[in-house]
Order: sequence, then structure tokens, then C-alpha cells
Amino acid sequence: MKTPLVAGNWKMHRTHLEALMLVQQLSYELDDFDFDAVEVVLCPAFTSLRTVQTLIDSDRLHFKLGAQDVHWEDEGAYTGEVSPRMLAALDVDYVIVGHSERRQHFGESDDIVRRKLDAVLGAGLVPIVCVGESEAERDGGQTEGKVGGQVKAAFDGLHADPAKVVVAYEPIWAIGTGRTATPDDAQETIAFIRSVIADVSGDDAARAVRIQYGGSVKPGNAAALMGRPDVDGLLVGGASLDAADFAAIVKASKP
Ligand code: 13P
Repeated sequence: MKTPLVAGNWKMHRTHLEALMLVQQLSYELDDFDFDAVEVVLCPAFTSLRTVQTLIDSDRLHFKLGAQDVHWEDEGAYTGEVSPRMLAALDVDYVIVGHSERRQHFGESDDIVRRKLDAVLGAGLVPIVCVGESEAERDGGQTEGKVGGQVKAAFDGLHADPAKVVVAYEPIWAIGTGRTATPDDAQETIAFIRSVIADVSGDDAARAVRIQYGGSVKPGNAAALMGRPDVDGLLVGGASLDAADFAAIVKASKP
């Protein structure tokens, strides 16, 4: 039985001062029993990472810290970028790579996502690799082709231990739309993702890899999604910006 992994992706929301307030509110909503049962990750913007990390340290909070993106080099002439080494020095635990918004708006290919994945693993951090199909791809019966290709690109020939990778299945049509995948749809595609990992990396890795669902997760649908056998966690966007909603999602994710 794996510990559920619930992560809040704050996207481009909250200044560092607002982030401080949100973490404080969240810490009032959650207790030790919640943190014993669920691993809770907060992924604020780069400008808030140091602030949130300091608060976690000083108040001995049990949140894990995540970044939303990373560059694949440790340093260099890459204006505006942030390296895995910089994130590791900030006690960041998780790094989201290949979010569909980055693939869509910033042209991130499977190849770039893979370079970031390797760099994150190389720095001793845990990548959360996002995969998912568009509405047109789903309607065209291409869900498995698209998602399977993204998963293969992430796992094929991986030097690091594949069991360390977290995958987030985020159907693009469900992100920020209020249209959640049904628990059956989420289960079906996540089980398919696990079968692709088994083909590429072996059965042990496929069993060990944690796979999250993301896309319009709310307090009202979290428990049903988490109730499916292959769903190991949730990646939450909009609802993670509301302390009461995110806390309710964490509580609903307890086994
Ligand atoms: P929403 O929960 O706002 O649909 O966003 C999901 C997401 O993209 C998390 O990474």
C-alpha cells in the first residue's frame, strides 16, 4: 500500500507574501493524522519557494516542497532559467516536468521533458512527469497513442531507478475546465500507463511508480478518484489555491 501523494500546483498565482498566508491557513486546516496518512506537496512559483521553505523549516510543518519547472543544466548562460542544483539547495523535494501548459505554451517536446527528467533525478530530486491527451486526441481515439508515447519517451533507457519517477496523468480537456475525468476513465488510462511502464522498465518498476490523476480535482470528486486501484495521488491546480478546499482534498485522499 503506497502513501497517497497529493500535490498542489499553484501555477502563476500568489506573490511570496500571499504564499506565506496560504501555507499558514493550510497548516491550520491539517493535523498530524492527515500528514501521517497523506504526503502533501506544495508547488508555488519560483519567487515563493524560499519563503515557503523557510516557513516549513521554522514552524516544522510537514509539507513537502515542489517546483513547477526546471532547466536541465546545472548552470550556464540560460537567462531566466533555474537549475536542479538551485532547487536542491532550497530543499525542494519534487519538480513538475512536462506540464501540458509548458508543452503547449512554451513548446516543450518529449525530448526536452526527458532532459529535464534526467536532470531532476541526477540532482536527487523526484520528478512529477505530466502526460495527457487533448480533447481532439481523445475524441479521435488517440488517447493511448499519445499518452503511451509520452510515457515511453520518459522511461525508455532511463539510467536512474524508474521507481523514483512520479507520473501525473492530466487529460488536457480536464485542466481548469471543471470537467473531471470520471474515476473509471482515470483508472483506465492510469492502468494503461502502468502497463507501458511495465513494458519499458519491468513489472517491479511499474508497480512501484506512483501515478497521480490531475484535472479539475475538487473536494467532491477526490475520494472517488483515489478509490480506484491504480490512482496513487492527485495533482491539484485551482482548488489548491483555497486552503479549505485543498485541505478537504487531502483528507478525502486518506486510505
Ligand atoms: P486544475 O485542477 O485547475 O484543473 O489544474 C490541474 C493541473 O493542471 C494541475 O497541474
